[in-house]
Amino acid sequence: MSTPNVAANSGISAAAIERPADYRRVYVWELPVRAYHWINAITLVALCVTGYLIGAPIRAFYAAEAYQQYWFGWVRFIHFLCAYVYVFNFLARLYWGFVGNKYARWSAFFPLKKSQRQEIVDVIKADVLETKLHGPISTGHNALAGLIYFFTFLAFVFQTVTGFALYSSMSNSWMPRMFVWIVPLMGGDAGVRFWHHLFLWFFVSFIVVHVYLAFYHDYIEGRGTISSIVGGWKFEREKSDK
Ligand code: HEM
Ligand code: HEM
Repeated sequence: MSTPNVAANSGISAAAIERPADYRRVYVWELPVRAYHWINAITLVALCVTGYLIGAPIRAFYAAEAYQQYWFGWVRFIHFLCAYVYVFNFLARLYWGFVGNKYARWSAFFPLKKSQRQEIVDVIKADVLETKLHGPISTGHNALAGLIYFFTFLAFVFQTVTGFALYSSMSNSWMPRMFVWIVPLMGGDAGVRFWHHLFLWFFVSFIVVHVYLAFYHDYIEGRGTISSIVGGWKFEREKSDK
C-alpha cells in the first residue's frame, strides 16, 4: 500500500501522512457489543450454511440408506441450536441499545441531524464511486452503516419470526408455539418457507458487502476499524468532535 494511494482515497495529504499527527484513543465498542458481534457473525454464518443444506440437501452425503445415518439430523440440530443462541444474543443487543455507551445506543442508528445525512451522501460516494471522504467521519458507526444495521436488525426480526413459525409445526415448546398464528397469515407452511429461504440471500449479500466495507474503511480511514471490533478501541484526530 503506497502513501499516495492512501492520500488519494482518504483526503489526507501525502505531506500530512508523513508528518506525525495527534490521535486520541477512544473506547468505542464495549465488550457486550463485541461479544454480540462475534456470536452473531458465527451463528449467522452457521444458520446460512445449515439453512441452505436444509433447503437443498446434498445427495452425495447419503452414503447408505437414510435410516442408517443421521447427517441431516445434525444439520437441522445445528440450525436450531444456532437459532436459539442467535435470538437470545440479539435480544441482549436490543437491550444494550438502551444502556450502552453513545456509540451503541439506538440514537446512533438514525440520521436525525443534517450533518449525518451529509455523511450518508459522502460515504455512498466514497464506497461506490471511490471518491475521497470530505468531512470528518463519525467515530462509531458512520451514518450510512448505522442505518443499514437498523434495516438488518429488522431482517433479523423477520427471520426469527418466520423461523419460529416453521418450527411451531415440529415442536411443542412454548417459544415456537408463540408463532403458530404466523403460518396461516403467510399462506401456510410453503409461504413461510419461501420467505425464510429468500432472506437467506439477503444475509449472504449483507455479509459479503459488510466484510468488504469493513476492510475498505479500515484502509481509507486509517484509524483501526478492523481491530476496533476485536479490542474495542479506535483512533480519532485530536480536533474531531464527532
Ligand atoms: C437468521 C438466519 C437464518 C437463516 C439464514 C435461515 C435459513 C434457513 C433456510 C434457507 C432454510 C431452508 C428453507 C427451505 O426449505 O428452503 C431454513 C429452514 C428452517 N429454519 Fe432457518 N434460518 C435462520 C434462522 C432461523 C431461526 C431463528 C429459526 C428458529 C427456530 C429457524 C428455523 C428453521 C426451521 C424450523 C426450518 C425448517 C427445517 C426443516 O424443515 O427441516 N431458522 N432456514
Ligand atoms: C460474518 C458475519 C458478520 C455479520 C453478520 C456482521 C454484522 C455486523 C453488525 C450487525 C454490526 C453492527 C454492530 C452493532 O452495532 O451491534 C457490525 C459491525 C462491525 N463489523 Fe461485522 N459482521 C460480520 C462479520 C464481520 C467481519 C468478518 C469483520 C471484520 C473482520 C467485521 C467488522 C465489523 C466492524 C469493524 C464493525 C463496526 C464498524 C461499523 O460500524 O461498520 N464484521 N457487524
